[in-house]
Amino acid sequence: NKNQSLQFLCQQTHDNVKRAAESILAGKVVGFPTETVYGLGANAFNEEAVRSIFKAKGRPNDNPLIVHVSSTHMLNKYFSQQLPWTYERLIKEFWPGPLTILIKSPTDLPGETTAHLDTVGVRMPSHPVARALIECSGVPLAAPSANSSGRPSTTSAVHVFEDVYQRTEAREVMNYILDGGRSDIGLESTVVDGLSDVGKVRVLRPGGVTIEALKKVVGDDNVLYDKTQTKGEDFKPTTPGMKYKHYSPTAKVVLIMSRGGDKEDKTERLQELIRSLGTDTKIGCMTLQDSCITKGLLKINERTDQLIPYFVGPSSQPSVVASNIFAGLHALDKEAVEYILVEGVDEAEEGLAIMNRLCKAAGNAESIVMI
Ligand code: TXA
Ligand code: MG
Repeated sequence: NKNQSLQFLCQQTHDNVKRAAESILAGKVVGFPTETVYGLGANAFNEEAVRSIFKAKGRPNDNPLIVHVSSTHMLNKYFSQQLPWTYERLIKEFWPGPLTILIKSPTDLPGETTAHLDTVGVRMPSHPVARALIECSGVPLAAPSANSSGRPSTTSAVHVFEDVYQRTEAREVMNYILDGGRSDIGLESTVVDGLSDVGKVRVLRPGGVTIEALKKVVGDDNVLYDKTQTKGEDFKPTTPGMKYKHYSPTAKVVLIMSRGGDKEDKTERLQELIRSLGTDTKIGCMTLQDSCITKGLLKINERTDQLIPYFVGPSSQPSVVASNIFAGLHALDKEAVEYILVEGVDEAEEGLAIMNRLCKAAGNAESIVMI
């Protein structure tokens, strides 16, 4: 039995966390829940253990990991340094939570963890199981999202099992997945660089903490975000992760954007799109439950019965939509659909991070259709 060596540790008992922590200290990789997405954790200061994370995911080794701490005491113990005022405020407001800050990498942190950069991304997660695991291990945990490289991130223990543990390389280095239920936020942390420009914070990856929220804390003019950094061909990546294929399920993702006329009947244009994908093709539809695109698709499906709907939430609640995006991609992939039509959202609040992930899942401009 190929799953023999894996254990799901379901109850969040001290005993289970302790066993997982012992596994971490033995140099293994542990799947664990955070409030953003699940992570694949190992001792950030153990070079060999960190190499195992890259193996388990099939991740290119020039893409650095985020290091997780359970307290400011741990931050000071392992990453002691003077922080800019912007970080002081952000930490006070958003930690524990979905915010990663780039700080100077200490000399004893292995180059494997940082991909040999002189900075390291650090965050303090709020999920109680994540905090307990780090605390019990007594060391900061390097952890990327728990998905095989290029695939959508995972927001449940079962998805970690299905997506990562099926890899031989993962089975060699992992004995435990801690199950802490579904991730509340459902999208990764916001990554910010507050070191490069004095008094400013640059958003390298939009995520769980919105730009609006960052601005409230450090001032409107002090938050920089260059949306084009994630698009175009010859941009210089500021975050190494940006240059790789990302968030792609097995099915081909087609992002559909409503070109205004919110009340308009879009059935005909949708019908045309679906015909172009094939009349016998099984198609997953990840849409807002209250949109005219949903209405159109349901109408079409009464006739063709080729669509599998998955509702991500109402347009008025972007945080709910955010929490269902990765779960939806995994669920529809499991239905073995050939395409996944995904409805785009407004780029306000969590919408910005949602669209960042969806555009990448659709291969940027390649598969975006205006309806
Ligand atoms: O919410 C999250 O951040 C999750 C959970 C598990 O904490 N983790 C996560 O890790 O999303 P990962 O490895 O999938 O994404 C980390 C991102 C990558 O895009 C990486 O390039 C960027 O952070 N990053 C890490 N260290 C960096 C650094 N020193 N400079 C620039 N970008 C960095
Ligand atoms: Mg990731």
